[in-house]
Amino acid sequence: MSQENILVIDNVTKRFGGLRALNKVSVNVRKGEILGLIGPNGSGKTTLFNVISGFYHPEEGSVNLRGEDITDLKPHQIARKGIGRTFQIVRPFGDMSVLDNVLVSGLFSVPRGGKTEKVQDRCRRILEIADLTEKINVPADGLSIAEKRRLEIARALALDPQILLLDETMAGLTHHEVDHALGITSKIRKEFGLTIIFVEHVMRAIMAISERIVVLSEGAKIAEGSPKEVSENEQVLTAYLGQRGKK
Ligand SMILES: Nc1ncnc2c1ncn2[C@@H]1O[C@H](COP(=O)(O)OP(=O)(O)OP(=O)(O)O)[C@@H](O)[C@H]1O
Ligand SMILES: [Mg+2]
Repeated sequence: MSQENILVIDNVTKRFGGLRALNKVSVNVRKGEILGLIGPNGSGKTTLFNVISGFYHPEEGSVNLRGEDITDLKPHQIARKGIGRTFQIVRPFGDMSVLDNVLVSGLFSVPRGGKTEKVQDRCRRILEIADLTEKINVPADGLSIAEKRRLEIARALALDPQILLLDETMAGLTHHEVDHALGITSKIRKEFGLTIIFVEHVMRAIMAISERIVVLSEGAKIAEGSPKEVSENEQVLTAYLGQRGKK
């Protein structure tokens, strides 16, 4: 059965000096899927997000969005084309309210002089889904870690993306908060019909919502498949055990 690929990452290599942070990585992302991206620390996950979203340009290979080559575009151009992302280190505007933080992203996609009413409605709806309605007037600095992470997702969603890249949005959360975040992620995908790629170290979360998983190790793709296939893959187990051995 053929499925439409919304994003095609082809043979991407990204070097930092002598280090190959990504080594000939190819991934096809299907429209509407939830794809988990995993791998030990330093395996290149965030670098891949940075390449997809235009923060880094690879030395080799290409990134295609709906058939268009976006490899050399700038981050704001890629954001406008429909790829939203969160950052591993969240940095909201701390002295601005939760609502204003989301509006800043939302207004980015509105042409100058355009009507903002729809954006305001959309941002409020996003905050409702992110379970932050009660906090809309609170300065972002006043939020808990879990709430800041949900705000980060809300800001990415406010851009009205077709693809959402989530980088460790569940790190440091309690068991209960992870469950809450999982519920929100599923709701987001359902309501907005998004394609989601997410990086996560919380295995329970990955296994619960990924339809497919891609595994990176030392910059290379070492496995790809269903959660079950990947969790039984020898190379994957070795990569994780190897890392544990080093610590
Ligand atoms: N801007 C940079 N300059 C130099 N080296 C970098 C840069 N960004 C990443 N690296 C290196 O590239 C490799 C991949 O880093 P990356 O942040 O992509 O890993 P990761 O899989 O996201 O790890 P983690 O799970 O710890 O977030 C690491 O060795 C890292 O030190
Ligand atoms: Mg990372």
